[in-house]
Amino acid sequence: MPLDARQFAPLVDAYGRTVTYLRMSVTDRCDLRCTYCMAEHMVFMPKKNLLSIEELARLGDAFIRRGARKLRLTGGEPLVRRGVIDLIGDLSKHLRTGALDEITLTTNGTQLARHAEALASFGVRRVNVSLDTLDPVRYAQVTRRGVIEKTLEGLDAAQTARLSVKLNALAGRGPFEAEVDDLIRFAHGRGMDLTLIEEMPMGATGLNRSETFLALDELRCDLSKRWTLTDLSHNTGGPARYVKVGETGGRLGFISPMSCNFCSLCNRARLSATGRLYTCMGQEGSVDLKPALRDDVAQLDLLLRQAVAAKPSGHNFQTQTVARPSVRRFMSDLGG
Ligand code: 5AD
Ligand code: SF4
Repeated sequence: MPLDARQFAPLVDAYGRTVTYLRMSVTDRCDLRCTYCMAEHMVFMPKKNLLSIEELARLGDAFIRRGARKLRLTGGEPLVRRGVIDLIGDLSKHLRTGALDEITLTTNGTQLARHAEALASFGVRRVNVSLDTLDPVRYAQVTRRGVIEKTLEGLDAAQTARLSVKLNALAGRGPFEAEVDDLIRFAHGRGMDLTLIEEMPMGATGLNRSETFLALDELRCDLSKRWTLTDLSHNTGGPARYVKVGETGGRLGFISPMSCNFCSLCNRARLSATGRLYTCMGQEGSVDLKPALRDDVAQLDLLLRQAVAAKPSGHNFQTQTVARPSVRRFMSDLGG
């Protein structure tokens, strides 16, 4: 193979999994402090340590040239990063050439009202919006500072801009269980998918996760007493299992990293806002790509291949030890 072709060959790991999906965190900051995600008082990365918008774009290009077909921007909250819309505008060239299938975003929705139109104009078709409750008081508690109206306005704006919206809700014991039926009715009533997420032991948030952890197989069993759930083969290429809810006609997803391990199909890599490449969310290891950004293509290619070759076979999360974080990183460092 000529050198050039080898440098841009797909990134395949030791278990034969190819990295076709890049999740790119553009900031570790967020305007909210969700209790399961962050500590009350967070120390964020100094801004000078973050990759510039131009460097993020170059790394996006590097992955896309090597076969990444799907790109998701995450945070923290991606829409609080200055220049993020320019970044999306730049990366959208790959949608037009057909090198990339989609650019998506995981957001808390608080700034969506301002940005939905621009996102749609750059070819973004879908957004995931995190919303764990419809109760304004509980929303303020869970996010430690959020105002639910902002996110609801964001949802309206996204739908007006014809973005397809999926809601993500973090499942937990207690009030969430009492509210999940309302969330299903709300999401499906507005033509949105809803995905329930099992809490992962990431970062010391100051709360004891063994008190809030709810295994989704248990929740699903409970839901099936009130709703008609039919398994769907629908697969977004991610770890969610989907069911159809007979009464609403809508789709409900379950992401259960703790009770159902899906690592063998993992096609993703995660880039932190500081330029570290993580090939597994549930492990500590990462490779710093920043130095290679200044060097030539060959150096970056070498680092990418070494990092992907070392992708672990799977995460180490264990339900029994959910009270202690399995990894020190907070979810907001990589955006899930
Ligand atoms: N476990 C699982 N999901 C989490 N999120 C944040 N913290 C955790 C955690 N500890 C999710 C949020 C949001 C996405 C960015 O990450 O619910 O949907
Ligand atoms: Fe921000 Fe999302 Fe973390 Fe909440 S879960 S603090 S919205 S990054």
